Amino acid sequence: MKDLIVFASKHHGNTRKLVQAIKANIESVDIVDASITQYLDLSKYDRICFASGICYGQYYPEIISFIENNSLEGHSVLLMHSAGSPKEAQCERVKKLIALKGGNFVKVFCCKGFDTYGPFKLIGGISKNHPNNDDIAKAIAFFRG
Ligand SMILES: Cc1cc2nc3c(=O)[nH]c(=O)nc-3n(C[C@H](O)[C@H](O)[C@H](O)COP(=O)(O)O)c2cc1C
Repeated sequence: MKDLIVFASKHHGNTRKLVQAIKANIESVDIVDASITQYLDLSKYDRICFASGICYGQYYPEIISFIENNSLEGHSVLLMHSAGSPKEAQCERVKKLIALKGGNFVKVFCCKGFDTYGPFKLIGGISKNHPNNDDIAKAIAFFRG
């Protein structure tokens, strides 16, 4: 069985960096950009991971709508996000939606992602140089584990 990562990465490509590193290191992973693909036959996948930047405390709307559009019945679901100020609780809404769609939430990974939104731009951004190599190694280990 293969694993799938559905991602959305719109601010600085921070989440895309994590996802591409996982793809480069783990052969059995397919990746799909939710900004391009909203409906998919998920039957050939065992685990599904949703990976997103955080916007106003939530996963990107493209991830929310992908979950709403597809059944997660019988799938184990992992969550991954990068954020200016990362907190596991930023996945709470998505976690509830996953349960509603029949998915089995397993675990969440989050790390810092360079953030120049709003006033942070004036100070050159926060969480500069993230995700870094350490964040990326942790994301790969999270996915492997
Ligand atoms: C419009 C907007 C809103 C954001 N809101 C939050 C937020 O509520 N909390 C947070 O920690 N980071 C927030 N961020 C920062 C992003 O989540 C962070 O930069 C993330 O790594 C972006 O991922 P991406 O480059 O993959 O899109 C926001 C960024 C933007 C552009």
